[in-house]
Amino acid sequence: MIIGLLKESAGERRVALLPEAVALLVKMKALVMVEKDAGTSAFCSDAAYENAGASVSTKADVISQSEMIVKINPPTGDELSAMKNGQILLGVLNPLMDKELVMKLGSAGITSFSLDIIPRTSRAQSMDILSSMATVNGYKAVLTSANTLPKFFPMFMTAAGTITPAKLLILGAGVAGLQAVATSRKLGAIVEVFDVRAAVKEEVIGLGAKFVEVEGAIDDKSAGGYAVDQSEEFKKMQATAIHEHAIKSDVVICTAQIPGKKAPLLLKKETVEAMKPGAVIIDIAASTGGNCELTQNNKTITHKGITIIGNSFFAIDMPVDASKMFGKNTVNFLKLLITPEGALHLNWDDDLVKGTCVTHQNQVVNERIKTIHAL
Ligand code: NAI
Repeated sequence: MIIGLLKESAGERRVALLPEAVALLVKMKALVMVEKDAGTSAFCSDAAYENAGASVSTKADVISQSEMIVKINPPTGDELSAMKNGQILLGVLNPLMDKELVMKLGSAGITSFSLDIIPRTSRAQSMDILSSMATVNGYKAVLTSANTLPKFFPMFMTAAGTITPAKLLILGAGVAGLQAVATSRKLGAIVEVFDVRAAVKEEVIGLGAKFVEVEGAIDDKSAGGYAVDQSEEFKKMQATAIHEHAIKSDVVICTAQIPGKKAPLLLKKETVEAMKPGAVIIDIAASTGGNCELTQNNKTITHKGITIIGNSFFAIDMPVDASKMFGKNTVNFLKLLITPEGALHLNWDDDLVKGTCVTHQNQVVNERIKTIHAL
């Protein structure tokens, strides 16, 4: 099978496969074509890809000669028009939110796989790009807040007096939230965490943070480990609890999400206005609406002395390790699609192959996507 790696568009610094991931695919007997300069922004030269066993070519040649195209972000209009009916696309297509793209992929006859919808089972852990990127997001969010906050994170006892540690409130204790807890604890901050899933309480405490409890959360076990929408009564109690803790915090890191839905609104304008001057809010949920009422996606704003950073893509600022993790996840997924002889084999009996496929033979085949978009 020929796998073609495309260069991402301007603004994206990651690449789906680093040379080390290409070397693994070559070992699996796949042929890899790489678009010229695909790895430049992640500090990988074309020569490094050639040394890993790939051939470097133009975008047009990569698309026309590959059986499968690999790219992180959805294809541009030009890339999609250059693709052929029956060709395979693997990337992060955000199909739960982007119905238009799903329909375009279907009508173009592309067999598309979107790694952001891989079923979250134990077998899929090594292929879980959401976890990998959430790890980067949680880590970078804390470092960005530490850089922006006009005070120290750790406690210091100095000849000039005692510096008290910074207080952080982390909303949502999924992969990003837990990484934010771990990183901020390493920097010596005092950390409080809020989540609707009681299952995360022990992990939070294990990392040295305090779990803020609000009784009455709907914790739906059938949601596959994800959070679900909460009742109006719970939302009111939650808003009061978050308000009380946020106004005592120096930093609030927002990570709460509900897959396929708008992010829950947890930090109201009046809460932000009651926070300490100089406080910092980092909203990782910005791209799905944000947890903070004042968040503007991809923007940093200051509201009455509070800095609010809306950024869901800190991974772009760490292209080397983010690409390394993305590539390893991708290769692990490709192991399900490549035979020992290096040929393509789509095994529809495999729940991970089936659950990650968005479109095939001009049809939207994914049940979750069909339900969300009422198809
Ligand atoms: P996510 O990005 O969907 O959400 C982040 C966090 O926000 C979650 O912990 C969620 O409970 C919380 N949240 C949602 N609504 C909230 C609200 N109103 N108030 C407060 N918190 C709220 O979550 P992520 O990081 O994708 O992980 C979700 C689950 O998936 C976890 O149980 C995790 O352990 C599991 N998981 C399983 C994997 C696998 O088995 N392959 C891989 C990664 C995660």
